[in-house]
Amino acid sequence: MQPEVTQQSAGRAGTTEESGARPGGRVTLRGDLRAALPDAAAAVVITGAVFLFLYFRMKEGVGDTVAVMPFMDDPDTYWMYLLSQAFGWSGLLWAWGTVMLGLLLSGPGTGRLPVSHATLERWHRTTSLTTMALMAAHALMFMAELVRYEAAMGWAERIWAGFADSFVPGWYDSGTGQIAIPVGQAALYLAVPLGLLFYVRHRIGANTWRRLHRFVIVVYVLSVWHTLLYGTNVWYGDWPRTMLWILQLPVAVLLLVRLLRPARRGERLGAPSGRQAVGWTLRVAGRVLVLAVVVGILAVTFSGRDGGRPRPADPPAAALHEHEDG
Ligand code: HEM
Repeated sequence: MQPEVTQQSAGRAGTTEESGARPGGRVTLRGDLRAALPDAAAAVVITGAVFLFLYFRMKEGVGDTVAVMPFMDDPDTYWMYLLSQAFGWSGLLWAWGTVMLGLLLSGPGTGRLPVSHATLERWHRTTSLTTMALMAAHALMFMAELVRYEAAMGWAERIWAGFADSFVPGWYDSGTGQIAIPVGQAALYLAVPLGLLFYVRHRIGANTWRRLHRFVIVVYVLSVWHTLLYGTNVWYGDWPRTMLWILQLPVAVLLLVRLLRPARRGERLGAPSGRQAVGWTLRVAGRVLVLAVVVGILAVTFSGRDGGRPRPADPPAAALHEHEDG
């Protein structure tokens, strides 16, 4: 989740200090980790606020997680699960922000914005580092909850079971989680290399890095898909789920604009030429697909058909491992 722009462009658009680079040198991971501290602190505050919100809703017995899994009506027992959910939401929020920044930087330009290009690029880098940390914290807290939950097993066995269910693709073998968990894992495992390759682009070549980094949008799509599939707070077809869909509209529109008006001249579509007809057709197809996504999100928003499950008259009594009922 790093910017689609090169260090040269940062040099053109702002000072070394603004871009976060070493004086006369490259942007380093260590420097960006330091620069990400205020951002990460803000993320911790937001996560704490979401946690408290979910905690008190569960305490009052009105949270949707309890509606899906009624045995979870004790936030003092299930606090790690709630913290995992809170990290999931802050992770998704930060992913949204960093993707928006990346699309602005690689798309129509930032000329009319009150913040310099170099500053936006630095924000994009720091927010993407924070996003990765939040995603990892979300998965780790889920593992911690599973380890706590399986109290009947021995320690080695419960740690292995919690780890495998959370981090080994295909291991979690219950209900919707059989798809939703690997989708989340794919997002996490793709985010890390696609984000961190930026810091070794002098070794792999700026073009290779740029080509690979483009696929970071897949990480975002997987994250949203995972949430829509598995988030118990957006389980039912009510307004929180519709809101989640609506928040994807600016991302889809900006992606479309970025494809139609890319910052880099070489990425503009141009006229079809005989030799590159296949590539040209694929690029047109990509743009049509994103347009279809924009129309799809509008359709979901106005129709209210957001894929949410109907609220059952009698709530199910699923165990932690089985939260597929709806
Ligand atoms: C190893 C990878 C992952 C695992 C094991 C995992 C696990 C889970 C689980 C078990 C849930 C259901 C919680 C509930 O009852 O609502 C969930 C929901 C969620 N996940 Fe993940 N996840 C992973 C990756 C991700 C990633 C990369 C994101 C993106 C930021 C993400 C964001 C969310 C969000 C926003 C929710 C909804 C929480 C709620 O409804 O309150 N997850 N995840």
